[in-house]
Amino acid sequence: MKILAFGASNSKNSINQKLALYTASLLEGAEVETLDLNEYELPIYSQDRQDEGGIPSLAHQFLAKIAEADALIISFAEHNGSFSVAYKNIFDWASRENMKVYQDKKTIFLSTSPGPNGGATVLGAASGGAPFQGANLLASIPVGSFYDIYDAETDQITNNDVNEQLKEAVGKLSDTANIAAA
Ligand SMILES: Cc1cc2nc3c(=O)[nH]c(=O)nc-3n(C[C@H](O)[C@H](O)[C@H](O)COP(=O)(O)O)c2cc1C
Repeated sequence: MKILAFGASNSKNSINQKLALYTASLLEGAEVETLDLNEYELPIYSQDRQDEGGIPSLAHQFLAKIAEADALIISFAEHNGSFSVAYKNIFDWASRENMKVYQDKKTIFLSTSPGPNGGATVLGAASGGAPFQGANLLASIPVGSFYDIYDAETDQITNNDVNEQLKEAVGKLSDTANIAAA
């Protein structure tokens, strides 16, 4: 199984990127791919730009990266209760080519932030859009107070409850794959 796991953030030190990759690592035997939203930076979407220049190739490449995967694990950064501009922009461009950006892939949505809500608001927005955007959403998990439950030295989540939730979620991606031991 090929999993595309990434943080919906353009931060070099994105905690959502860490959470997405950590969660993907819990599925033994999976091939994990990631992407860096900095490589998909485009002018701010506008109808006028699209009318004048069409849909940029980076938007096609973003859709192609999703198309190559069997499953998606996306962790959303929350900026003022909503998506990071970096994600919203590439998503808007891509949606002009294919409204079902997630292309019917098995999907896990996550979010995390330093605060106790863990980005639950943006996660709600992403999850609410899932049926219209082609995500076969199997789990949606906000992870609060990231720095309290993450050990930077080992690059591991140390909270048992969170680990259990994440393992249960990745288990839904594949009936046959083994879940890594804690
Ligand atoms: C412009 C801006 C707005 C933010 N708004 C929120 C917010 O609404 N809720 C929240 O929990 N954290 C908020 N934060 C803090 C982010 O959760 C924090 O920066 C987190 O590291 C973002 O995820 P990332 O590291 O994956 O980019 C905000 C940060 C920025 C820079």
